[in-house]
Amino acid sequence: MPSLQHYSTFGLNASCTSISSFSDVSSFLSLYQPNLPTYILGGGSNSIFVGDFEGAVLVNEIKGITHYDTDTHHFLRVGAGENWHDFVALCMQNQWYGLENLALIPGSVGASPIQNIGAYGKEVNAFIDTVEVVMLTSGDKVLLSNQDCAFGYRDSIFKHKLAEKVLITNVNFKLPKDNVLEVSYGELSSLEDATPERIFEKVIEVRKSKLPDPLVLGNAGSFFKNPVVPLCTFEKIKKQYNNVPHFLVNASDEVAQQSGEPTMVKIPAAWLIDQAGFKGKEYNKVRCHPTQPLVLTNLGDARGEDVIALAKEIITSISALFAIKLEPEVRLIGSEGLITL
Ligand code: FAD
Ligand code: EPU
Repeated sequence: MPSLQHYSTFGLNASCTSISSFSDVSSFLSLYQPNLPTYILGGGSNSIFVGDFEGAVLVNEIKGITHYDTDTHHFLRVGAGENWHDFVALCMQNQWYGLENLALIPGSVGASPIQNIGAYGKEVNAFIDTVEVVMLTSGDKVLLSNQDCAFGYRDSIFKHKLAEKVLITNVNFKLPKDNVLEVSYGELSSLEDATPERIFEKVIEVRKSKLPDPLVLGNAGSFFKNPVVPLCTFEKIKKQYNNVPHFLVNASDEVAQQSGEPTMVKIPAAWLIDQAGFKGKEYNKVRCHPTQPLVLTNLGDARGEDVIALAKEIITSISALFAIKLEPEVRLIGSEGLITL
């Protein structure tokens, strides 16, 4: 049974039935066995194998980048197996701006629409024109529009209706030439004379100072999503913690908007976990990161059950203290495939 340790940035020592890579659709279809549990993998930076996976892991290496432009936009067709940060850096070199806030996010271009990657005030859905997919069951090629993808905060159709039903082969980006700079988020607001290049460099600097490097310390970035709660839940917390950090967000649900439901509030999960006293806490070889408690790290030879135990303890504690249910942002894979906590 081959080991998955080097295929996931969290680096647990789990195995699977087989690991193969493919660089085009026909080789994918020849490897794909509909009756065998299958996990499609990019860079493994959002996937934690918490047990031995009894199935095939297929690693996407579809490459290729093409570009053309019009008076108003740059259009890029990018193979799903391209590295995300290398793609952003290429855009910067060519002055195709827009993605600068999304520098240094690990992983592949093909995974970027799946959780609608975001950082420092921008989300990738603002730049995705269409997504090319192959349906796993029929092998049919389908082109999904931006709207079809139903993007939300760390969310898309690929986590719901199309979860584990498609292979993303290419992502088509549309970068406006009248790019609007975004410098409102935290550390970026101190930037003087902001340019896309300065934002790109600053984001890299901030990320390197805050987040553990997976090559040094196994991790999968934020373990949980930041909860988005109704105003009344936020007000209750504020009574006890006057300084609770928060961001107002519009209710994304159309029905809620129509019914005049109040604005929702996003509360940083890092703050909740910090208040609950987990920062720096170790559970066997899994640690809640001392400078960013939303990240769990593998101190060496952590085991899947320890990751789950610490994550459950955090969920239970936050629920008891704040009446908020944290949801994992990472994908957890057990013996038969994706699992929930
Ligand atoms: P994988 O872990 O390989 O796969 C993720 C999911 O996508 C799995 O369900 C997999 O089955 C599926 N998948 C992958 N490729 C395909 C495909 N071609 N077709 C169909 N399904 C596919 N995320 C953010 O949004 N913002 C951040 O700021 C951020 N910072 C991070 C920092 C660190 C240090 C780390 C380790 C992670 C961070 N992440 C962040 C999370 C991660 O980088 C993103 O989720 C990234 O998009 C995952 O890419 P990947 O190729 O590694 O995905
Ligand atoms: N905080 C604390 N204690 C700490 C650290 C942070 O209370 O020790 C609070 C502070 O109030 C801080 C707030 O948490 O202002 C937010 O922290 P940070 O700016 O580091 O961002 P985050 O909300 O924890 C999110 C994303 C990251 C993304 C950053 C930057 C999610 C789940 N995470 O983290 O994405 O890089 O913002 O935009 O939305 C990822 O998805 O894997 C990821 C790393």
